[in-house]
Amino acid sequence: MTIMPANSGQPTKNVRWMLIVGLITVFLAGAAAIVLSVGSWNIPSEAKRMQNPVPATSEAINDGMYNYMQRCQSCHGADGNGKSGRAEELSVKPSDLTDATEMSRRTDGELFYQITHGRSPMPAFQSKLTDTERWQLVDYIRTLSKNPEGPAKQ
Ligand code: HEC
Repeated sequence: MTIMPANSGQPTKNVRWMLIVGLITVFLAGAAAIVLSVGSWNIPSEAKRMQNPVPATSEAINDGMYNYMQRCQSCHGADGNGKSGRAEELSVKPSDLTDATEMSRRTDGELFYQITHGRSPMPAFQSKLTDTERWQLVDYIRTLSKNPEGPAKQ
């Protein structure tokens, strides 16, 4: 009769290693997700591709300016350069909406998404402003980065 060796402990050791490797993988994936979400807004590509249905007429720009003065200038500043009375007290610096290089990298759909959803400390405006009002704001903030002396420098 052959005597089977008693459980050598090998399988349990393997299971333990698999658990440890598994946990490390989950931890690293979580850390990577946090780092990525801090750096970018993670705007869905359908949102980026959205076309602005509100043409930038002077009326639309004026309406956008009105809402900007009411709701945005306290943080982004009257000129949109991010310098405002509240800027100092915020955990994140308000974006400089006059930065032509940065602004030219955003599609209208991206700006609309950012205004719609916000990102702390910037509030979401989805329920505070209508879609039309948010598109008018996109039209207005585009005017803030226009260089009156010629085309925006890249
Ligand atoms: C409480 C202060 C606050 C208010 C009010 C606010 N913002 Fe912001 N906004 C911020 C901050 C802070 C950021 C940067 C957020 C980040 O990058 O995480 C930002 C970012 C943005 C961006 C993104 C720009 C980029 O570089 O990607 C846009 C566009 C914007 N705001 C437009 C607006 C508009 C339009 C309004 C008014 C309807 C508004 N904001 C109201 C604080 C504010």
